[in-house]
Amino acid sequence: MKDLSGRTAFITGGAQGIGLGIARRLARAGVKLALVDIDAAALEKARAELEKITEVVTHQLDVRDRDAFAKVADAVEQRLGPVSLLFNNAGVASGVHVSKMNYAMWDWVLGVNLQGVVNGIQTFLPRMIERGAGGHLVNTSSGAGLAPTTAGFLYTTSKYAVVGLSESLRNELQAAGTGIGVSVLCPGPVATGIVSRSLMGRPGASEEINPQAQARLKELDNHLLEHGVPIDAVGEMVLNGILEDRPYIFTDRLVEDLVTERTRNILACLPARSDNSDEAARSKALLAGGGASSSG
Ligand SMILES: NC(=O)c1ccc[n+]([C@@H]2O[C@H](COP(=O)([O-])OP(=O)(O)OC[C@H]3O[C@@H](n4cnc5c(N)ncnc54)[C@H](O)[C@@H]3O)[C@@H](O)[C@H]2O)c1
Repeated sequence: MKDLSGRTAFITGGAQGIGLGIARRLARAGVKLALVDIDAAALEKARAELEKITEVVTHQLDVRDRDAFAKVADAVEQRLGPVSLLFNNAGVASGVHVSKMNYAMWDWVLGVNLQGVVNGIQTFLPRMIERGAGGHLVNTSSGAGLAPTTAGFLYTTSKYAVVGLSESLRNELQAAGTGIGVSVLCPGPVATGIVSRSLMGRPGASEEINPQAQARLKELDNHLLEHGVPIDAVGEMVLNGILEDRPYIFTDRLVEDLVTERTRNILACLPARSDNSDEAARSKALLAGGGASSSG
């Protein structure tokens, strides 16, 4: 995709943080914006800022709510025209110690970080394919979606899934000649308030957060805000990633060693290569046979 001007973008988690960085850059590129977020006050602030540059609509939306998602999509397309740029970006970063895992936390993290992405795709992608006017999807994962980091098993599960989803969708949309690109954004540390926002928003947070814990959260936020990549720089990287149709968009190289180590571990666990020509022929036939997508 070479020119985004005049298109309509739908950005989840668009009120602040990385979503806002993307929105700002798109606004300057002449893109109309639909920003959705669970945080109504932050949405209002973002709208006030961005409507000086481009057409903006905002809707309070919990990305886990499929019915509300479809209704908001209809309202947005009525106001701004067809959405052809979709940013499934809303996310939470909170984890739980492995000895305290519970369904409420699984449901929350997978609900926002994975089901929210699925809901965005299921709402908009069929419309985009049907219209035949091309487009681009950017799904926000993380460096933690490519290799185990200290982010914890819940977050890691959700972010690996977003990488797999994005890689396979990209291939299938390309093979089908839809003109719709897919990039997965895998940021390293970015200067946002995600740590405290997520910990305050987690299930049961109101019973747990005492003044000391709040002070500790502020400290964590300050660390990220001070050392992370600025959101406007991320917006620039995302725009370039779309223009160049890159499969992955990174904000730094921090994950390099971890990805190398993971790849090495995977390769080391593969069965030994066989000289048996029957086996080689069988593997070739299996690979040529196509996957589930060919079964209709
Ligand atoms: N900041 C980082 O260092 C970093 C690193 C890697 C990946 N990421 C990913 O980037 C994305 C954006 O994170 P960010 O750092 O900008 O955080 P952020 O907290 O600043 O922004 C996330 C936004 O999502 C919204 N949100 C949360 N739950 C929602 C829900 N259920 N429905 C709708 N909106 C909801 C929040 O209100 C917030 O506005 C996330 O997916 C996150 O996992 C962030």
